Amino acid sequence: MSAIHDLIGQISDPRLRERLAAEWKAASTGKKFGLVFEDHLPELLPLPKAKPRRGDLVCRRQGALKDVWQVKSVKDGVVTCVKPQDETHPSEPTRATAETVNFAVDEVLVVREFGEPIFPSLVPVDAVANGPADAPWHTLIEADNYHALQLLDYLYAGKVDCIYIDPPYNTGARDWKYNNDYVDGNDSWRHSKWLAMMERRLLLAKQLLNPADSMLIVTIDEKEYLRLGLLLEQTFPEARIQMVSAVINPAGVTRPGAFARTDEYIFFVFIGSAFAKPAPLGDDWRINPEDKRTTKILWSMLVRTGTNARRVDRPNLFYPIFVAQDGNTIHSVGQPPALGVDRQQIDAPKGTVAIWPIRSDGSEGNWQTSPTSLWAAYQKGFVRLGKFTEKGMSISYLKAGEQRKVHDGTYRVTGRRPDGSVIVENPETQKRVIPTTAWRVGAHDASRHGSNLLKALIPDRKFPFPKSLYAVEDCLRFFVSDKPGALILDFFAGSGTTAHAVMRLNRQDDGRRRCISVTNNEVAVEEQKVLSEKGLRPGDPEWERWGICQHITYPRLTAAITGRTPDGEPIKGDYKFADEFPMSEGFAANLAYFKLDFLDKDRVTLKRAFREILPLLWLKAGAVGPRPELARGEPEPEIFAPSGSNFVVLLEESRLARLLKALKGRTSLSHVFIVTDSDESFKAMATEVREAVGRSDPGLHVVQLYRDYLVNFMINKRQDVAGRAGLEAMPGAQA
Ligand SMILES: C[S@@+](CC[C@H](N)C(=O)[O-])C[C@H]1O[C@@H](n2cnc3c(N)ncnc32)[C@H](O)[C@@H]1O
Repeated sequence: MSAIHDLIGQISDPRLRERLAAEWKAASTGKKFGLVFEDHLPELLPLPKAKPRRGDLVCRRQGALKDVWQVKSVKDGVVTCVKPQDETHPSEPTRATAETVNFAVDEVLVVREFGEPIFPSLVPVDAVANGPADAPWHTLIEADNYHALQLLDYLYAGKVDCIYIDPPYNTGARDWKYNNDYVDGNDSWRHSKWLAMMERRLLLAKQLLNPADSMLIVTIDEKEYLRLGLLLEQTFPEARIQMVSAVINPAGVTRPGAFARTDEYIFFVFIGSAFAKPAPLGDDWRINPEDKRTTKILWSMLVRTGTNARRVDRPNLFYPIFVAQDGNTIHSVGQPPALGVDRQQIDAPKGTVAIWPIRSDGSEGNWQTSPTSLWAAYQKGFVRLGKFTEKGMSISYLKAGEQRKVHDGTYRVTGRRPDGSVIVENPETQKRVIPTTAWRVGAHDASRHGSNLLKALIPDRKFPFPKSLYAVEDCLRFFVSDKPGALILDFFAGSGTTAHAVMRLNRQDDGRRRCISVTNNEVAVEEQKVLSEKGLRPGDPEWERWGICQHITYPRLTAAITGRTPDGEPIKGDYKFADEFPMSEGFAANLAYFKLDFLDKDRVTLKRAFREILPLLWLKAGAVGPRPELARGEPEPEIFAPSGSNFVVLLEESRLARLLKALKGRTSLSHVFIVTDSDESFKAMATEVREAVGRSDPGLHVVQLYRDYLVNFMINKRQDVAGRAGLEAMPGAQA
């Protein structure tokens, strides 16, 4: 300690001496132990489609992203710029006298500094609705997650129940970008850049999590688990943290001269009173592979697959099952027609639909059991009906061995489904348990239940290292099984596994959990090369089409929901483990796909951005029912009160009396947005609104629109950095 003071004392330049002494003092009196890394400011985001405007930061399209300029004016295709004064925060205002440089408009690219005030909006891109009107709406946001998290902090601060993320593992194999450059193994600042990137996002994510009871789940491997562990401890000092080791590649990845790697790690950050709930863990959680005991009753598909599965092989097993039109009862079972008879000639009894054994390739097949034994099994509740599809309906049943286990009491019947089929429980093994921290679970194999599953959903599209669907489902289950309305977020969504897992959990218990998935639209390296050779560049629709969000995430989630591949083919294969059914059945769920955009602040201040902000209001009010829209060309109304919606907007203060009249007795309202600049009149109007609705409870939110939006994003300015949880930014932690 004294040696350093001696050395500092020898510096002749008094300013430098003072500054170094101050820096040293700050560093030595700050955190003594823990993670110390270079802050790596600024982080910049290129916006290829934005037109440069006064005040924007730009770089040259052909130059480095970090070489930024501040726009002073744009006139006649010429952008006049100055070099920013403060290189660590280039968006800060510069001296009026600074030297100017001119560029042609086409020569420059707009960039945003992270932490610069932004006014985000969500532009609707597409949607898929496959559920009843009140089915949950999941959301997919195409964006850099830093800006998406800022936006989500406006919508859902303190409201998120669970965040699951699988960030880039920083393998050194160019698996992620910092400031538009891949971070590779030769980058000596690789760990520090990764930490700076993660810290910024975790600080924003922390504000989203419900402080009373929520979970953050982060997966990682050997490259960064030590640093991530420290970062989590420092960012969430009040939380409890556990690390699980999970086998995701049972075959192992060879490490020459060392142990083959089969597992990765999952950090569970318990916030507030969060705790793991016991779950009924199936056979796949058996640690001992020798243990062949099955713990779960096996429902088999009634249609035969494999050998002897064509109609001609077993014509006696090709017969119709007449299912009532409500899809819940078998009216009767028909007899097999002679081999040459066209099945279309067989009439179904009135009010029923004939279900035939049709194979996945559309050809005629056969059932696994005779009409008589099928009918007997149905009478006992041993036949389960799926959903009607264009091909008919998937039907499953209990084979004789499984039926015996119900008869002899191995499985206890605990209830019946709407189709009369038995719900059983194995008293011995259906005990709910909390597992240990070592997970060796077949269902978590990432290649079988991640990559291969993705191939079935979106054939011929490549995505590196998706998680096993069932691994994500299991991680979430311990924390949201008792929260049927949970809000779940994944801001490194990749192929969309988390949202898919949430849909499965909802199906298992009729839940209404919502998942928000955020991913960028990064184009894979090989594709980038091909596209660049064709003269295309980021921002061109033909380039963007190949990005992860457009090419993988949205098509995958659409396929999962509809049960069809992007080519319209029914998805081949069945879901496994906790809930087994054909993937072609899809899910009763809805998905809204948005792209994050930035609004012009002046437009918001002038209150002209209602159309753009409308999707945010729908999300803020909980995304209930279809998203209301203003028709193209329709002027902004004075009062916006879409029928069936749970929110209304008063755009013209003078129309308060009319709004109050319309509000009388509306019980399903959750949000009333009022556009006004005056805090005083807002308070008065809010009181009147509450009186009119007859509710003073906190379940009704009255929000001052635009002002609340503007203030939120002005405050957001660099709060991530200001809010650093005791982390000292110091150069030094190199790779
Ligand atoms: C390891 S993958 C996640 C895979 C995912 N769990 C799955 O099962 O498909 C990480 C993803 O995060 C995305 N990503 C990386 N940096 C991002 C950023 N700054 N903003 C948004 N998405 C980002 C990448 O495009 C990548 O697909």
